[in-house]
Amino acid sequence: MENVKGKTAFVTGGASGIGLGIARALAAHGMNTVIADSRQDALDEAMVYFGKANLRVHPLKLDVTDRAAYTRAADETEALFGKIHVLVNNAGVAVGGPVQFTSFKDWDFGVGINIMGVINGIVIILPRILKHGEEGHIVTTSSTAGITAVGMNAIYNTTKFAVAGLMETLATDLQGTKVGASVFCPGPVASNLGKSTQANRPEHLKNDGPPAWRPPPPPSGSGNRPPLFDTSLFMTPEEVGERVLRGIMRQDLFIFTHPEFKEGVRVRNEALLRAFPDEPDNVKRHELLARFGTLIYNPIYEKQTTPGPLNG
Ligand code: NAI
Repeated sequence: MENVKGKTAFVTGGASGIGLGIARALAAHGMNTVIADSRQDALDEAMVYFGKANLRVHPLKLDVTDRAAYTRAADETEALFGKIHVLVNNAGVAVGGPVQFTSFKDWDFGVGINIMGVINGIVIILPRILKHGEEGHIVTTSSTAGITAVGMNAIYNTTKFAVAGLMETLATDLQGTKVGASVFCPGPVASNLGKSTQANRPEHLKNDGPPAWRPPPPPSGSGNRPPLFDTSLFMTPEEVGERVLRGIMRQDLFIFTHPEFKEGVRVRNEALLRAFPDEPDNVKRHELLARFGTLIYNPIYEKQTTPGPLNG
């Protein structure tokens, strides 16, 4: 999708943090951009910026778990801009904690937004993109927690692995069409994720009583919060927004931002390879599976190139 100018993008969670950074990059490159978000205050704040910048951005209040409202939002976008070309499934919440302390309400909350919200976007908007026949693209924000498991992060890891697999499958199934698919896996980015996770948790999915688990306090005597929480060192939404734009234009399957996570992915992939038995133990089965070809060997992975420096 080299030429995005004049095309239309629909960005969920687009009023804050990473989604806002992506919306800014897309709108600045001439795209009509809908920012869809569940928080009206965040939408209003974002529109102050977009109004001053005089960009073609339209705010929509939307909870991505509400399918009827999502359909109406897609209709409204088409009525306003004609066609939707790019869907950015970015709305997400951070539900942390070790798996043994999770409740059904925690799972329903995290899975509902981080997985079902993404599926809703694909089921509602992909047919519209395919129908108009012009170039299009779908990006879903996963995380580095979607490619290596991080401790004490059960629901988040699970949902982010799920959408990574979904986007790899989508990219495979969309081969031969004019629509591409990417999974975006950023490391730490300055955003409002903690605050907005609380704001987006509906009453009926709140746990009763005190939390079953709290994050461990910083090491005693350190005086300060641990370095991970020095958000001044986090990447900015604008930086990662530009990277996502570039990923869309290059049709990258994987859009990554933080080289620091490369070693963790290498170690995980090596563990996967070590886990296979060395030799096939049944010649006939081996011959049968070898005939499966691309069913067990997917060529989409070979197309991935190296994006170069973040600001290059
Ligand atoms: P953010 O909280 O600043 O932005 C997320 C936006 O999504 C918020 O405005 C929120 O209101 C909206 N949202 C949440 N639930 C929604 C729903 N049901 N319907 C519509 N909108 C909803 O947080 P951030 O960090 O920008 O998060 C964006 C995405 O990036 C999330 O999917 C998150 O998991 C992912 N991510 C964030 C990282 C970070 O370090 N900030 C790292 C890796 C991934």
